[in-house]
Amino acid sequence: MPRTKVAQILRETLSGTEVDVRGWVRTKRESKQNFAFLEVNDGSCLANIQVVVDANVPDYAILIKQISTGASVAIIGEVKESLGKGQRVEIHARQLTVLGTSDALTYPLQKKGHSLEFLREKAHLRPRTNTFGAMARVRNSLCATIHDFFQTRGFLYVQTPIITTSDCEGAGQVFQVTTLDLAKLQQFKGPIDYSRDFFGKKAGLTVSGQLEGEIYATALGDVYTFGPTFRAENSNTTRHLAEFWMVEPEMPFYVLEENMDLAESFVRSIVKGVMDRCQADLEFFNERFEPTLLASLQNIVENEFIRLTYTEAIEILEKSGHSFEYPISWGNDMHSEHERYLTEQHFKQPVILTDYPREIKSFYMRCNEDGKTVRAMDVLVPRIGEIIGGSQREERHDALIDRMKECHLDPEDYWWYLELRQYGTVPHSGFGLGLERTVQLVTGMTNIRDCIPFPRTPKSAEF
Ligand code: 4AD
Ligand code: MG
Repeated sequence: MPRTKVAQILRETLSGTEVDVRGWVRTKRESKQNFAFLEVNDGSCLANIQVVVDANVPDYAILIKQISTGASVAIIGEVKESLGKGQRVEIHARQLTVLGTSDALTYPLQKKGHSLEFLREKAHLRPRTNTFGAMARVRNSLCATIHDFFQTRGFLYVQTPIITTSDCEGAGQVFQVTTLDLAKLQQFKGPIDYSRDFFGKKAGLTVSGQLEGEIYATALGDVYTFGPTFRAENSNTTRHLAEFWMVEPEMPFYVLEENMDLAESFVRSIVKGVMDRCQADLEFFNERFEPTLLASLQNIVENEFIRLTYTEAIEILEKSGHSFEYPISWGNDMHSEHERYLTEQHFKQPVILTDYPREIKSFYMRCNEDGKTVRAMDVLVPRIGEIIGGSQREERHDALIDRMKECHLDPEDYWWYLELRQYGTVPHSGFGLGLERTVQLVTGMTNIRDCIPFPRTPKSAEF
């Protein structure tokens, strides 16, 4: 008999059909009259399926004793309308198999529920909780809608390398990749000879697929990359991970305004996509974690984002009379508190800020005529702040060399990137959306460590 997922039973109300369901027991309630109720979860949806087991099931007494929270079971039985409260249908078991027992005294997930901090220490078991099951399904749907969005618009999915020899953001946050013997190196003084290293030069894990994305965009048209990125950023915040996933579209012939239009419709359409696909999970997050969640997501879907320049935003912040932990003035990078003030208090909506000071942005952004700002754009959302960073790229060869020097980068290291400007250069733009921050946005979870299956942060890479 083919196995049936609980989600399918609940969706299609398969009353009268015999099913084979497998999953993990959340609770067992035994009645004195020789029957028991099992709440079984198979991960396919938030809801458990209630299984009624009675003395007609072979070895009833022995099997029911073996079962406690966490045990894995296989059930063959008939789906029936439930007479009890709390569920429409239930399974009346004809046959029960205990696949794996679970010691009730030592099983780390007790019925009472646990703090998110505790569950981070149990990353191997936390997907068995409602919260992390829901997070995993939401994340999955988000990835599917991201691919849908670009695929239906004719974007090509390009896989960019994880190991690179260039630092895209030029911020020195690259994790080094080497096969040199560190213990031996310690004995030598003087510069390290990278020609002896695996790649013949200093290499590291990518901080962004953008530069390689630009290569394909300037040959094949609209492209996107979607993969893991790594930053040795020693910031222990609720919005930073050392390993995170980023979606990076890159479009030739796009100027900044077109880039903003795409970013806005992208965010609004993936939020809508997840609301359509994961209704029960989002209701759960709304009820358990963030009571304004569904209303705020609806607001994102229905209303246009506010657009203004960095300079205008600074004026608003300076005039706000609000006391910030980090004082703000023109030329400084915004902190999350400033971004949140704009989106939560001032505009009560997502905001796109443009034209940031050139000193605080990366070398590849197109310089404005004013000599002070670049064609950057950040999309800011309530509860999180920056969710997207992007820009129109500097497509002028000589201007790019000047910018690299200004940023203390050696143009020689970026020779192939410069050649894109030497041969058939075009105006082009792109942006990067952080997947985990987007999971934060759509689930209302406050800590980014709870938005990825296995978070990597300073001093933490267990599992
Ligand atoms: O603003 P960032 O650094 O932009 C880039 O990497 C560009 N190369 C993108 C592009 O234009 N193709 O990062 C983009 C987004 C941020 O807005 C944020 O959502 C996420 O990536 N992000 C992080 N997410 C989790 N942990 C971190 N340490 C992150 N750093 C950036
Ligand atoms: Mg950024």
